[in-house]
Amino acid sequence: MNYERNILITGGAGFIGSHVVKLFVRKYPQYRIINLDKLTYAGNLTNLADIENSQNYVFEKADICDHAKVCEIFEKYSIDGLIHLAAESHVDRSIKDPLSFAQTNVIGTLSLLQAAKEKWLEKEGKERKGEYMFYHISTDEVYGSLSTSSGYFTEDTKYDPHSPYSASKASSDHFVRAFHDTYGLPTIISNCSNNYGPYQFPEKLIPLFINNIRIGKHLPVYGKGENVRDWLFVEDHARAIDLIFHKGKVGETYNIGGFNEWRNIDLVKLLVRTVDRLLGKPEGHSENLITFGKDRAGHDLRYAIDSTKLKRELGWTPSLRFEEGIEKTVRWYLENQTWLDSVTSGEYEKYYQKMYKETSAKI
Ligand code: NAD
Ligand code: DAU
Repeated sequence: MNYERNILITGGAGFIGSHVVKLFVRKYPQYRIINLDKLTYAGNLTNLADIENSQNYVFEKADICDHAKVCEIFEKYSIDGLIHLAAESHVDRSIKDPLSFAQTNVIGTLSLLQAAKEKWLEKEGKERKGEYMFYHISTDEVYGSLSTSSGYFTEDTKYDPHSPYSASKASSDHFVRAFHDTYGLPTIISNCSNNYGPYQFPEKLIPLFINNIRIGKHLPVYGKGENVRDWLFVEDHARAIDLIFHKGKVGETYNIGGFNEWRNIDLVKLLVRTVDRLLGKPEGHSENLITFGKDRAGHDLRYAIDSTKLKRELGWTPSLRFEEGIEKTVRWYLENQTWLDSVTSGEYEKYYQKMYKETSAKI
């Protein structure tokens, strides 16, 4: 079959990537979607069970840092668009092991940029440039921290990363811009706020705490729980990615966020109320699980994204109110306890270890 486009999605077995892959495979049967993922502890092919047999979907287990392999995949599928999500994504892990973040997030991104440059600009010729797109998915954490209760990150906010994770993402953003400015590679970057929703690895705040409330384990709030995050439902992020990939302007940056700020402690109490209610427990039953402990090193106080540009230029707005999104999310985790159990026990890795996996999860 001749496909209209051949789109490489990296990190498609992870949390956000799996939502993006599913959206594209279903919405665009005329495109071939190639999911390139190393299947680290965060990659889980069961996230894609619904679409794994679709005709227009292909999985390639590979490391983005393996430049020769990436070039081979570009050739094999005549890749003409790339949505780059593969990354080490957890701040706490970056504090323990910064080198692996530099390797995957910086060197891995550079390896993809170099492959796109070689294939699209050097081999195919610059005249076809308009047909290609290198879309890099980044984070609001590159902007650093807002220290008061006012102000927002805009596309013009100066980069000021504080954790090894955000420093590695900031560095990858700079390389993407450098390839646009130096070689004319058609690139776009988007920087999104905190995502939540189904299939998020339960080391991140929301799924970790839903799971802990479910099994009666303590809820370790860092510091006093006063840090503020701006939460967006993952399917709204996937819709924004679809829109930007198709309608965004080459060389531009778009901020994505829901104007939805929550103090961690208020969010944790909302989670406690929601999980308790859905499990039929009396209100406040699990509040005693909340503990306040050591703060995260370099903990950014507040993130808040101004996504006005995306609304004004491309018409994107979030579809869900937060309370609805949280209700939907908690229900999903409670209805998919086998997914949660298999991920927290490492069982999901054994499932296809023989075929693919090398690394293992430690929560
Ligand atoms: P995730 O950790 O759930 O998934 C990452 C995926 O990348 C996994 O499938 C993993 O196997 C794969 N991967 C890791 N290293 C790889 C390598 N070397 N080669 C190939 N594949 C590799 O991450 P996520 O939360 O879905 O985030 C996806 C992207 O979105 C990241 O770039 C992250 O920085 C960005 N982002 C995340 C959020 C958020 O709230 N989660 C917000 C804004 C931006
Ligand atoms: O802002 C976008 C970023 O959001 C993404 O780029 C990252 O990939 C993603 O992991 C997320 O980073 P955060 O560090 O904000 O997410 P996390 O879920 O780890 O933590 C959210 C907040 O909750 C943060 O202030 C730290 C706090 N926290 C987290 C955990 C895991 C706790 O208080 N206790 C915890 O156990």
